[in-house]
Parts: sequence; structure tokens; C-alpha cells
Amino acid sequence: MSSDAGERAPLIETVVTTTGSDGVVNCAAMGVRWGDEELVFWPFNATRTLRNLRVRGEAVVHLTDDVLLFVEAALGHPQPVMRAASVVSGSVIEAANSWREVVVTEITPAEPRAARSRVRARVVAAGTGTRPPLGLCRARHAAVEASILASRLRWLGAEHVRAELARLQELVDKTAGPREHAAMDYVRRYVAERT
Ligand SMILES: Cc1cc2nc3c(=O)[nH]c(=O)nc-3n(C[C@H](O)[C@H](O)[C@H](O)COP(=O)(O)O)c2cc1C
Repeated sequence: MSSDAGERAPLIETVVTTTGSDGVVNCAAMGVRWGDEELVFWPFNATRTLRNLRVRGEAVVHLTDDVLLFVEAALGHPQPVMRAASVVSGSVIEAANSWREVVVTEITPAEPRAARSRVRARVVAAGTGTRPPLGLCRARHAAVEASILASRLRWLGAEHVRAELARLQELVDKTAGPREHAAMDYVRRYVAERT
């Protein structure tokens, strides 16, 4: 794997915990360029994640194969079981497969007049959970795709999103276990409540 988090590093879908000035821990799904020593990610300017990063300059970036946790972090405000991180003053999600504790080194606009900022962060500690990740699963990928469609509902429109969800549901029906079904149900409820 590349040691830098530049364009050649893959964009990995993660769950990022950050802590607000009020001490509340926020979990957010976020695509992260995954280098060995540095992670780069692009939070929208309106997110709590960016606000918290500006205040505290620290985060914990988790890898998880629990697609329900991921979907909840993308569309809601989950509070999974967490414990204190080892180096940064942040929180580790106990059920995550692995995580990296990071310190922000730079926050810049992603591009002029961009809706996102570019965050560079140095890895200062890492850990692994008790459960190794399972391999690839079509239903999990389908639920991830469904969650991104749902998060863009306002721009994509209800008709387009419903049609795509129906297509993705077929993959879930073929290959899901209970967690994947629950994740897809969560997405469908989210969309139904807003259309
Ligand atoms: C697959 C996927 C990838 C996402 N990646 C990003 C991202 O890179 N930046 C971002 O700001 N939000 C991203 N989101 C949306 C956030 O997870 C969502 O807006 C979340 O609520 C963050 O907001 P918060 O920090 O206010 O909690 C993504 C959502 C999905 C489903």
C-alpha cells in the first residue's frame, strides 16, 4: 500500500468519531484516502465532523464491516458502545474491526468556493478489534450505495432514488444476512419518511 494518502491511495468508506466542544461524540460515515502514515478526507463545511475537527484537531477513523453501523453513521446519529482512545482525546467504537487515531495537520478549502474542506491528518496510533473483518459481500456494498443515494435524495429526486433502491434491494435479497437487511431497511425508512 502507498505510504502517502495522495491520489493513488484508495478511498475507503469509514466511520469517523470526533468530539464537540460540549463533549458529545459524533459518528459520521466518511470516505478517506487511506495512506499508511497520513489520511485525507473531505468533510462538507456544514458537518459536525468539520466543526469538531476545527475545535479539537483530533479524530478516530474506524474500519467496519458492520454495514448497519455505517448506514446509521451516514444518515443518523448512532451512539455505539465506545471507549477512550489511547493517544488522542477521542473515542473508539468497540465493535469496529480496526481504527486509527489521527491528529489534523492541515484544513484547507477543497477548491475555491467548495462545499467541502480537505483535511490532512497524521496517524498517531492504531488498534484492532476482537472480530476480524469478513470478506466482500454484495449486500453490504448494495447497502452502502443505497445510503449514498439516500444522502443525496434532495439532488437526485425521489423517483430516481426509489428506482435505484429497488435494484439494490435485489442484491440484498440474494446475499444479505440480518445486519445487511436491517441496514437496507434503515435506508428505505429514511427515504420513505422524506418523500
Ligand atoms: C458512502 C458515504 C460516504 C460519505 N462521505 C462523506 C464525505 O466524504 N464527507 C462528508 O462530509 N460526508 C460524507 N458522507 C455523509 C456523512 O456521513 C453525513 O453527512 C454525516 O451525517 C456527516 O455529518 P456530521 O458530521 O454532521 O454528522 C458520506 C455518506 C455516505 C453514505
